[in-house]
Amino acid sequence: MDKYAIILAAGKGSRMKSKREDISKVSFPILGQPLVKYVVEALKPLFLKEIIAVIGFGGATSEPIVKADCKVVWQREQKGSGHAVMMAAPILEGKEGETIVCCGDTPLLTSETLASLFVEHENSKNALTIMTSILEDPFGYGRIVKKGGNVIKIVEQKDADEKEKEIQEVNAGVYIFDNKELFKALKHLTTNNAAGEYYLTDVIGIFVKKGFKVGSFAVKDAKETYGVNDRYQLALAGKIIQNRINKALMVSGVTIEDPDTTYIAPGVTIGQDTIIRPGTFLFGNTHLGEGNLIGPNCYFQNVVVGNNNEIIYSHLVDTKVGNATILGPYLRTRKNVIIHDRVHIGNFNEIKNTEFGEGSKAAHLSYLGDSAIGNDVNIGCGTIIANYDGINKFHTDIKDKAFIGSGSTIISPVIIGEGAFIAAGSTINKNVPADDMAIARQRQENKKGYAKVLHEKALTKTQLKK
Ligand code: UD1
Ligand code: CA
Repeated sequence: MDKYAIILAAGKGSRMKSKREDISKVSFPILGQPLVKYVVEALKPLFLKEIIAVIGFGGATSEPIVKADCKVVWQREQKGSGHAVMMAAPILEGKEGETIVCCGDTPLLTSETLASLFVEHENSKNALTIMTSILEDPFGYGRIVKKGGNVIKIVEQKDADEKEKEIQEVNAGVYIFDNKELFKALKHLTTNNAAGEYYLTDVIGIFVKKGFKVGSFAVKDAKETYGVNDRYQLALAGKIIQNRINKALMVSGVTIEDPDTTYIAPGVTIGQDTIIRPGTFLFGNTHLGEGNLIGPNCYFQNVVVGNNNEIIYSHLVDTKVGNATILGPYLRTRKNVIIHDRVHIGNFNEIKNTEFGEGSKAAHLSYLGDSAIGNDVNIGCGTIIANYDGINKFHTDIKDKAFIGSGSTIISPVIIGEGAFIAAGSTINKNVPADDMAIARQRQENKKGYAKVLHEKALTKTQLKK
């Protein structure tokens, strides 16, 4: 039997209370990943013939998120969840098979639970199986109304009477339908309800009337079905995802000293015996090897790190780090930085678009931009590569074993040859051949006894003022 999925992701998300018209609710991120992407990732392992994402409000932000894995259909006007499913008719109407419908705002669903819903649906021979959960506080969810153990309808919060509001079994917003019958039933929906919308949940009543078997499947962990309707729920769901990711890493051999203050995005990988210290954020395409000590207070975005490094209080973006380096505290890297093995880059350095060779050092307070630094180079304290003339950026090469004295300004483009020595305080704007020494600063002059003269002059001045 062919299996299809429809993700409903067109809603306005009014409860997010955003003034922006260009952002859809399902593109709000948790740990850097949009809500709807979590749903797509949970569906992907289920051997589906097609995943269809229905987008609409703020759809320009939703489309790039789902495009790679889903067929995209637009719901230009948001007339309810039933109306949203109708938008998939050109692709799915009349096809034999089973269709799972999920909401794009339920990021906690797992593939295991979705797979077990399929098993339940197939074993029970239902025409429709509804995922439900029992919630202590069911406010806001559709309530499952049963008669003699069978589901007869779902009543939305807005439409529920006092008795129905007490029902704690709620609609998780995930359903598996007989595909053909689903699209037949959608034609009979009306907007005769408190919201004036086409409710997908009204399909249940239609199925029951036709005498089809409608079943429910209560999930073990009610948390999985939490929907994100406002920003408080966004944070709650975020905490749960954060805990899941951290836990999976810890049981695989990563030490996370304080999981509450450690934020690791889905897809980040970390090798065994790496220690993540408090206040650390690992986002994007980030992969860490084994035996590293990271943090406290590191922020990484797209950072690949080898093994046995120590990186403290640092902000790294688009950076590759080798092995056995010591970086930070307070290193900042950005825009394509490659740091090779056994490097030491100490406090308050900024590095941009630069390759930093094996065994090289920059212990303190430098800016190194648009450069290639060889192996075993020493960058003295306060070195600046002046790479920008206000219009263009230029490149500098510093070859192996060069020594750059403290407080030097290297005006790009220049090449500093292998083993060259730059005297402290130099301003370099010409190439320095290998093994040469360059000194480019005013020669020092000492004026004998003149310090005293200056001092006396200053004293008489202040006395005159009085
Ligand atoms: C919905 C269910 C409710 C269930 C809850 C679970 C309906 C009528 N109600 O309520 O029974 O307990 O989910 O989380 O389905 N959407 C569209 N187009 C629209 C309207 C909505 O694509 O015109 C999408 C939204 O983007 C969202 C999903 O449908 O992903 C559900 O809509 P939402 O407004 O969040 O419904 P709930 O009130 O949460
Ligand atoms: Ca919702």
